[in-house]
Amino acid sequence: MKSGLGATAAAFAVLSLATATAEAAAKTTLKDWPKISSPVAKDPAIEKRIAEIVAGMTLEQKVGQMTQAEIRSVTPSQVRKYYIGSILNGGGAWPEMNKHASVADWARLSAQFYEASMSTDMKTPVPVIWGTDAVHGHNNVFGAVLYPHNIGLGAARDPQLVGDIARQTAAAVRATGITWVFAPTLAVVQNPRWGRTYESYSSDPELVREYAGYYVRGLQGDLKGGASAVATAKHFIGDGGTFNGKDQGENRYSLSEMINIHGPGYYGALEAGAQTVMASYNSWNDVAAGVNHGKMHGASDMLTGVLKGKLGFDGLVISDWNAIEQVPGCERAHCPQAINAGVDLFMVPDDWHEFIMATINDVKTGVVPMSRIDDAVTRILRVKMRSGLFENPPAASPLNGRSESVNNEAERALARRAVSESLVLLKNNRALPLGSVKRILVVGKAASGFGSQLGGWSMTWQGTENGSADFPNAEDFLAAARKAVGMGGKVDYSADAANVDVGSYDAVIAVIGELPYAEGKGDVTFPASLQHSERYPEDLAVVKAVSGKGVPVITVLYSGRPVYANDLINLSDAFVAAWLPGTEAGGIADVLIHSSSGRPVGTASDFRGTLPFDWPLAACPQSGKKADYLPRGFGLTYAKPGAVHTLPVKPAPKGCVAPAE
Ligand code: GLC
Repeated sequence: MKSGLGATAAAFAVLSLATATAEAAAKTTLKDWPKISSPVAKDPAIEKRIAEIVAGMTLEQKVGQMTQAEIRSVTPSQVRKYYIGSILNGGGAWPEMNKHASVADWARLSAQFYEASMSTDMKTPVPVIWGTDAVHGHNNVFGAVLYPHNIGLGAARDPQLVGDIARQTAAAVRATGITWVFAPTLAVVQNPRWGRTYESYSSDPELVREYAGYYVRGLQGDLKGGASAVATAKHFIGDGGTFNGKDQGENRYSLSEMINIHGPGYYGALEAGAQTVMASYNSWNDVAAGVNHGKMHGASDMLTGVLKGKLGFDGLVISDWNAIEQVPGCERAHCPQAINAGVDLFMVPDDWHEFIMATINDVKTGVVPMSRIDDAVTRILRVKMRSGLFENPPAASPLNGRSESVNNEAERALARRAVSESLVLLKNNRALPLGSVKRILVVGKAASGFGSQLGGWSMTWQGTENGSADFPNAEDFLAAARKAVGMGGKVDYSADAANVDVGSYDAVIAVIGELPYAEGKGDVTFPASLQHSERYPEDLAVVKAVSGKGVPVITVLYSGRPVYANDLINLSDAFVAAWLPGTEAGGIADVLIHSSSGRPVGTASDFRGTLPFDWPLAACPQSGKKADYLPRGFGLTYAKPGAVHTLPVKPAPKGCVAPAE
């Protein structure tokens, strides 16, 4: 969905606008799924060894290998007894359920699982592989640096930055004895209602394709090294295009749109050698062609026909968390349809034992052919062998157990730079940068504390149930502003700006935002409008309280999606979309506050970010209606300023009447 400057958007009359037109470089439209050649070629020696191991495995051992259990529900001795091939930690799971577990605690638990898997009675023991959602740094681990979520990285338009973050993430993950990351998310989100919009880099398929390659190469390195981790291209396919942005909903795009909008991220990931793909919860109903492919986890035409066939993927396909229960006729722990469709490894976090029993029975009764089991196990062993897991226990990595790998000066500097590059300046009527200001008033709930600043997937799945003590190395905006102003000035804080003499300050910075969420819990469910202040009236109240007092108001919005914010923008002299910046809010202060003291050398000083998605200029934006959006690619800088006039404010208190799609 592209949009240029419509009538309303023209209110953003700027001297120079990096608009979507600059991006509209001619893109060839693919007519079919392209054959991708992976840089990780088939190694005859590995293939021979795999075949020998598989030939010596019992049915129980093979099905165990196809099973992934969660660390809250499985012990090392059960991994040994049931030949379990993989484990994961979901968001909010830590060793011994100790939220503040150390890097050494993680590494110790990993070694226990690995040793258990290597002490089975199999002819050739097969090492267990541990996967984790390190989706913006090693976000489950106490003290880790958290980078901006993908939406902010998309705004930065800096593929090398993404590669560098992936490399640092791999090092952090390996320090904890984990060798597999469930990233990158390659959704090309078309509707910001989706609660996972922030896990998407952009609505631009070509940007997602480029980022996918950089991320996979950064994370996987040469696959075997002690600082490498296996990547996961997810969620295959079409998760970012469901009707009305409904999480786990129905994608109704055409075959050509699926190939050319939702596919490019996978082309980028597979041509960089991604070794695993996670199937998607969504279904695909190609309405235009009258072909309903159904839920992806049961779609053999997609998982086998397209992914493994046409695209030529020879790694493993993993199911999503209990996703197989959504396949018609399946249960949470029993789904021969998904096995036969092409899923190789099953994320059955708690019900792993029932899954093993049911699947063994399906093979014995012929519901699942042994050839499919052998193919799945072959793919799983292929990924493990290619990533060196047979020869090198996770503990063999020189990074293993080293706490500085999850938080160090270099990582904090990289994250800080990423924050600065992610910021998008939507309005600046001569308010920024703050130069020799002495007295700053900071207001807004999001300026102090980390919930809105970090978003979901931060120590917990939802990013909730955390306190500042859970992020010992993080810096919120208030602390960053105080550092930036230094001893020569003063920075006061009032969350709601009540009883504050605004006129006694040189400037006000209002830091507001969404409260954290993940997945469906973050959906803005139709017919609710996309107006931020409708969901968060406290944010409008605090900006109103400081606006119009003769003191410039700079509003910084933390959000996991583009939102309708005309009312907030009108009340602000400058407006910055900061997305979900992660632990280093100093990257925001670097760009906003140019006072002499407190600025680290070499930090950013101007904006460079541009909108990764169209930005709503209506409470119920109509897909394809140019006037309803500020176009993807828009972004002001200090070097290229622009005046933004008063925007129309038309709330939709009764909700949106027509589907947003
Ligand atoms: C979640 C997500 C997926 C994640 C998995 C494991 O439901 O859909 O992205 O990797 O479960 O946490």
